[in-house]
Order: sequence, then C-alpha cells, then structure tokens
Amino acid sequence: MRIIGTKDYEDMSRKAANIISAQIIMKPGCVLGLATGSTPIGTYQNLVKRYQEGDIDFSGVTTVNLDEYKGITKENDQSYYYFMNHNLFSHVNVDTNRTFLPDGTEPDADKACEEYNRVIEATGGVDLQLLGIGHNGHIGFNEPADVFKKKCHCVELSETTIKANQRFFASYDDVPKQAYTMGILTIMQARKILVVVSGEDKAAIVKEAFFGPITPKVQASVLQLHPDVTIVGDEAAFSLIKA
Ligand code: F6R
Repeated sequence: MRIIGTKDYEDMSRKAANIISAQIIMKPGCVLGLATGSTPIGTYQNLVKRYQEGDIDFSGVTTVNLDEYKGITKENDQSYYYFMNHNLFSHVNVDTNRTFLPDGTEPDADKACEEYNRVIEATGGVDLQLLGIGHNGHIGFNEPADVFKKKCHCVELSETTIKANQRFFASYDDVPKQAYTMGILTIMQARKILVVVSGEDKAAIVKEAFFGPITPKVQASVLQLHPDVTIVGDEAAFSLIKA
C-alpha cells in the first residue's frame, strides 16, 4: 500500500490526476475504472485540463464505471451516466462507445448485472481503478455486509448512504434506494487501484479500512490484500494516521 499525503483537496486532485495521466501515457489503450461522488470531481477537472493542454489523449481509452442507480434515466442529472458525461467524457476525446456503466434503466437486475460483467470481461480487465470511499467503508456500492460479493449485483443502499446522497436530491424520498454495482472481486482484479480521500469526515474510515481488520463489515478493508494500491489523501483525511 502506497500512501501519498497531500496538502488539501486541490493538491490531492492534482496528484491523483498525475497518476491517471501516467497510466494513459504509458498505455494509451488502457481500461480505466472510474468512480463518481464528490471526491474525484477535482481529479476529473485536472484530467480535462491536461487533455486541453495536449498532455494526454483519451482516444484509445476504455472506461468502466463502478456503479449506477437503479431506476433512474440517463438524462436524469443525478444519474452517474450524466455525472460522467458532465464531469469528464464531454470534455475529452474519449470514444463514448467505449465508456460503460451499468444500465440503471434495466429493471431486470440479473440481466443488467450479467450484461455488465460481460462488458467488463470483454475489455480485458481494468488497468487502473479509481475509488472513493464511503463513510461506512463502502467502495462502489458494496455496503457493509457479512460477505464480499464477487461480481456485479443489485444492492439495497444503506441508510447512511441514502442520507449521504440526499444532498444531491430534492428530498429523501427522491433518493434511489437501489443501485447496480461492480463486485469486490472485479474491483480486486484491477491491476492497480487508486483511492482518493479528502476531508476530516473521512479520517476515521481511512484508519479503520486501511489499518483495521479485514472484514466485509468494512468493505474497503479488502484493499489491504491488493498488491498495488495507492491512496492519495489530504491532511484532514489522513489526520488519524501517519502518512
Ligand atoms: C461512486 C462510488 C462511491 C463513492 C463514495 C464516496 O461511484 O462508488 O463508493 O466513491 O460514496 O463518495 P464521496 O466521494 O462523495 O465522498
């Protein structure tokens, strides 16, 4: 596990973007696993800037996202499809035929998940997976549980997650209660993993997930077993650990 301490959110975003840029430069046809949420927004902004400055080229890149809400249209500005287009895809030269997310509009969960597993396998596997981490240790939408689920599956979002997501919706009732997510095995099969964490509110979970016991109650703790994980975090998120 490589821990990279940074000054603040801006610094974290720039350093995470450096790592992703290096991946794209070293392997122009790479597969990037991408995340949504607040934390990676600055990373995406830095990637867009680097693309505009001519330093990186997305034309050969394939992307697979971690998750998508179930029962939400692509046009809905809270869909992860919308988020990715808005924050990254529409600003760079990625071929949108090679940007993939689970199909949140597919009501049949088995069908949606089987299809997404097939899509990920067809890419040849993820070279670099970007992850944020939830306050309860979730990665993707793999919520605290008794087991680590292997592949794409449909999840009932936990109360903590629904409440954390409420800020993006008009009301609690509008927050989707289910989502499709990549499974833990698929995440662990990524050749490299890059975790971004920012803010004091993440300090406790950073300590628990990366320095506590490995348990499905804290799904991110499984990352301790991955051979190539880099955690880039700011001072506040690392305040309870020595970075
Ligand atoms: C998003 C995702 C989630 C987030 C996590 C942290 O695709 O899979 O696991 O990474 O909820 O979210 P933020 O960054 O908003 O704190």
